[in-house]
Order: sequence, then C-alpha cells, then structure tokens
Amino acid sequence: MKLPFLFAKRFVAGETLDQALPKVREINKKSIKVTLDLLGENVTNRETADETVANYIQLLKEINEAGLEATISIKATMMGLNINREYCRDNIFKLLEVARKREQFVRIDMEGSEHTQATIDLFKDAFKHYGKHVGLVIQAYLHRSKDDIPELADMGADIRLCKGAYKEPERIALQSMDAIRKAYKEYAKILLDKTTYPRIATHDDKLINWTKNYTSSNNIGKARFEFQMLYGLRQPTMEALAGEGYNTRIYVPYGTHWFPYFKRRLTERKENIWFVLTTMFQR
Ligand code: FDA
Repeated sequence: MKLPFLFAKRFVAGETLDQALPKVREINKKSIKVTLDLLGENVTNRETADETVANYIQLLKEINEAGLEATISIKATMMGLNINREYCRDNIFKLLEVARKREQFVRIDMEGSEHTQATIDLFKDAFKHYGKHVGLVIQAYLHRSKDDIPELADMGADIRLCKGAYKEPERIALQSMDAIRKAYKEYAKILLDKTTYPRIATHDDKLINWTKNYTSSNNIGKARFEFQMLYGLRQPTMEALAGEGYNTRIYVPYGTHWFPYFKRRLTERKENIWFVLTTMFQR
C-alpha cells in the first residue's frame, strides 16, 4: 500500500524539486543554509541509478542558477553501491566533477552498518581527487567510530557527526542514549579541535549546549563549525541559533521515495508521530 504524501509532509519538503524550492528559499531568508537530499536508497538497477545521477547533476545546476545557499547529500546505495562498487564510484565521481567545476559540495550520507566500510572507502578515494568538494557522515553510535573519527580528522575530512538512525545490534553500536551522547561529545571534541569546519548534526539540547560551552571555553569561534538539523524539526531553535551568530543548516529531503526516510523519523522519537498527525490537518 502506498501512503499518501500528506503523511510525510512534516518531514519531506515535497515530492518534486519545484515543491521543495520555495521552502529552501524561505529557510535561506532566515540566514540558514540548506542541504538538499533527493530521497532514495538501495537502488538495484542501473537505469534508476543513472537517472538519479542525472537528477542530482540537474539539481547542482539549479542550485547554482537559483543562487541558493545549498549543497547536496547523496547515499552510496542510491548511486549503485548494491549493484557494483566501481559503477558506484564512477557515478559519485561524475557528480563530483560537476560540483568541482561549479565550486559546489557533495556530502555522502551514512547508511546501515553493512555499508559503512564501503562508504568510508569511497569517501577516501573521492577525497583524494576532489578534496574540499566532498564530505562524509559519521555515526557516533557505531563502536568503530572511535577509530574512524581520529583517522578522518587527521586527513582533514569534512565530517557531519550524527548519532545514527539505523537499527543496529549491540555488537555493532551503542544502545543507550547516555553512552551515545558520551561518544558524540568525545568525537565532536576531536572534530572541533582538529578539523576546519565540523558539522554538529543533532536536535538534542544536551549536545547543542555542550557544543556551545565547549567551543566558547576553548576559543573555537562560531565561524569554525555549524549546527545542522532536519527539515520539520526544531526550526525555531535553528532560527534562534542563527540569531546568536552560529552557522546553521537544515537538511531538506524531497522526492517520491520518501517512505524509508519517513519511517526512520517515526521510529527514532515517538513525539514525531504526533508531529505528523498535527501537520496532516494543517492546510
Ligand atoms: P534524538 O531523537 O536522539 O533526541 C534527543 C533529545 O533531543 C530528545 O530527548 C529531546 O530532548 C531533543 N529533541 C529531539 N528532537 C526534538 C524536537 N523535535 N523538539 C524538541 N526536542 C527535541 N543519521 C544517519 O544514520 N546517517 C546520516 O547520514 C544522517 N544524517 C543526518 C543529517 C542531519 C542534518 C541530522 C540532524 C541528522 C542526521 N541523521 C543521520 C539522523 C541522526 O543520526 C539521528 O537519528 C537524529 O538526528 C536523532 O538524533 P538527535 O540527536 O537529533 O535527537
């Protein structure tokens, strides 16, 4: 059964780019930058992956021409990781070639743990060729992040740090919120101390306040990092952070393949179910 888009509209900016663009402009007007995500994952045929690459290239062009303060996020499995690793690499490189020409930026989101190693390998390869035009996401809940974070920080990689949104077993990921927050702080410290511009992606006041305190007491200026949140969540808090002079960015997903993303939002926080219900009845 296909759910109507009405369900997803709290968290997804539209089913088409035309529907999402006015929302991006509104966000930019509030001095908040955007990351656009064309929804889709686990693509198993080349036709769909090729179409995705073409759509993303078009998206980079439209961002540029519309003068938006926006970058893009991609998923390796959308670029064909489940089909063939070399093919996926070629697709990501095609996109990065366009991004470099236009002085734009592409971030590779992190997916479930079966893809972590391949995604990090693809990133390292891309970073060698495209440097500042490519970034990665690291999930604080993964046990392996204690090794990945220092290595990526030493490379000078551009990292978005998040808690992690996929259901993972205990042998792979921390399970308690306290332990995840503790790991998050430890990794944020490394990124803030060693990299030029880390991205602190969370809606969690405990982590936001910790970041504010850590940076101010260690002479890390507000221009040296940014806060990131997801579309539909805590926008007034984002606006307040922007008003305090912090760099801020909202991740704006759009597209017809919204169901897996929507489901992750509902399962990570029960209050999100309530947000969906209230938004459904707003015009
Ligand atoms: P979490 O849901 O853990 O909530 C913690 C506390 O924060 C709550 O108890 C409450 O106090 C406060 N809070 C949270 N939401 C609130 C709200 N709406 N209103 C008021 N208070 C609220 N994951 C992944 O695996 N791969 C990826 O590539 C990405 N990318 C990504 C980009 C960006 C920009 C963000 C913000 C997040 C991701 N994530 C992600 C998702 C991430 O891993 C994680 O699942 C969610 O951000 C939820 O964790 P939080 O720390 O945000 O709050």
